[in-house]
Amino acid sequence: MPPDIVILGVFVADAAFRCDRLPKLGETLIGTGFTLGPGGKGSNQAVAAAKSGGDVGFLTRIGDDTFGAMGRAVWAEAGVRSMAITDAARATGAAGIFIEETQGRNAIVISPGAAAALSVSDVEAEAVAIATAKVAMTQLEQPMAAALRFLQIAAAGGAVTILNPAPATALPDGMLALCDYLTPNETEAEALTSITVTDMPSATRAAKALLAQGVRRAVIVTLGGAGAVVVDADGARGVAPMQAGPAVDTTGAGDAFNGGFATALAEGQPLDDALRFATAVAALSVTKPGTAASMPARAEVGALLGR
Ligand code: RIB
Ligand code: NA
Repeated sequence: MPPDIVILGVFVADAAFRCDRLPKLGETLIGTGFTLGPGGKGSNQAVAAAKSGGDVGFLTRIGDDTFGAMGRAVWAEAGVRSMAITDAARATGAAGIFIEETQGRNAIVISPGAAAALSVSDVEAEAVAIATAKVAMTQLEQPMAAALRFLQIAAAGGAVTILNPAPATALPDGMLALCDYLTPNETEAEALTSITVTDMPSATRAAKALLAQGVRRAVIVTLGGAGAVVVDADGARGVAPMQAGPAVDTTGAGDAFNGGFATALAEGQPLDDALRFATAVAALSVTKPGTAASMPARAEVGALLGR
C-alpha cells in the first residue's frame, strides 16, 4: 500500500551552536553548547507527521555516508517509510545553525548536498505513490523543478497538496494554482507578496493576496509565538497559539506545524481542527532542543489538545 502522506524534501545533519548572541562578521565567539542531529525541512516534516500519527513516505536523495545513515535511523525510529535515493557520488548535506540563548532566535545556512541533485525524473519515478497519496507536501530546499513536478503529479492525481514555501524565494508561474494549502511564515509571505508582514492585519492582507494569486483552498501564515492566520473562502481568522512549557529551541517549529497539519488533513480533520492539531505539534516541539529530535508523539499531542 502506498503511504497516505508523501513528502518530498531535504535531509541534512543539523550542526547547532548555542550562543549568547549571534557573532558579527570577522568575530570569534565562545558558544554555550553544540549538538549534531537530524534536520532538513522535508525530513523534519516527515518525522513530525509520522510521530503525530501519520502514515508517511519521504522522498529525498542522501549520500552513502555517516549523515545519510543518521537520516535513515531517524526515519526508522519515527516510522517514516523511506523513499530515499542513495547517491554514492554525493555527500549528504548539512546545516549550520546558530541559536541565540537570550531571545531564542536562530540563523541557518543549509547546504543540501546530495538533495541538491533531486530531479524531475526522481519525482516521476515515484509518480504512482505521489498521485495516489491522500496528502502530498513539499518545501523549497531542493531544486524548484522537482518541487513543481511533484505538485503537478499530486494535483493531477487528486492528492491534497501543501506547499510550505521555505526558504523564501520567488515561485514559477502557475505553481500556486497547484496548491490546496500554502503555509508561509512572515518572511516567506512577505517575499511572495511584497507586503511587510509584522502582525495579524498585515499577515491577513498577505494571505488574501496569495489566495487571490491562485491557492486553491487556504493560505495559512504562521506567526511564531503569535499563532497563525488562515484565509479561505469562509474569510480570515486567527489560529490561537498554544503553550506546552518553556521554549528552549524554536528551530523546526514551522516543520512541526506542517507535519502535524499533513497528518490531520490525511485523517480527514476539518481545516480549523487540523490547524489546532498543527499548532499543538509545533508548541510541543519548541519545548525540546533540536528539530527532528523534538517532534512529539501522538499521545503528547492528544494530551495537549484534550482529545
Ligand atoms: O526548518 C528548520 C530546518 O531548516 C533545519 O533542520 C535546517 O536543517 C534547515 O533546513
Ligand atoms: Na525544538
